Amino acid sequence: MAEPSSERETALLKVAVLRWGHRERDKRLTAHVALTARALGASGFFLADVKDKKVEATVKKMLKNWGGPFHFDMGEPWKQIVKNWKKEGGITVHLTAYGENIQTSDVLNRIKATGKDVLIIVGSRKVPGDFFKEGVSDFNVAVGNQPHSECSSLAVFLDRFFSGKELSTEFEEAEVKIIPQKRGKKMVKQ
Ligand SMILES: C[S@@+](CC[C@H](N)C(=O)[O-])C[C@H]1O[C@@H](n2cnc3c(N)ncnc32)[C@H](O)[C@@H]1O
Repeated sequence: MAEPSSERETALLKVAVLRWGHRERDKRLTAHVALTARALGASGFFLADVKDKKVEATVKKMLKNWGGPFHFDMGEPWKQIVKNWKKEGGITVHLTAYGENIQTSDVLNRIKATGKDVLIIVGSRKVPGDFFKEGVSDFNVAVGNQPHSECSSLAVFLDRFFSGKELSTEFEEAEVKIIPQKRGKKMVKQ
């Protein structure tokens, strides 16, 4: 098996998130998945199959205040998003409690070793069986084999993929910025 790409190389890769299964009652959670994606190093987010103006507004407001770059897209069918991503040479990683355990297997090394852009697929309710198949997901990855949430699994996966380096990202064109403090809150307008 090829050696895993270096951390410098993973930092250069494009990573995006496909959110499947959004429902009316999922607005806040879908918005949180998008915010998690941005804050932890993904450069794009696809809300598949549906359009939700509230989620779009939340993400746009976040980008205006806190910066980017971050691409937001909604309404495109999930099959088309996956097809386009693969056509462009990227790979797909489906996050599922049933997949290869990120801690006890070498799946993360195999993903990094591809050296390819990564589309991460997260669900909400029970996902279509096709998601587990080769034609859709190149890798099925479990962040532990206990069910939890799309936000937590996405955060852990991204942090491991980027080895924590994404947490020191300086975002571009931000209107405000937090100055870290031992206590209290300090923010500056830029
Ligand atoms: C609330 S879970 C849905 C679980 C659903 N009942 C099922 O059987 O697929 C929503 C999403 O969180 C993600 N998820 C939950 N637990 C996970 C885990 N342990 N590892 C990776 N992803 C997980 C998956 O993307 C899943 O589709």
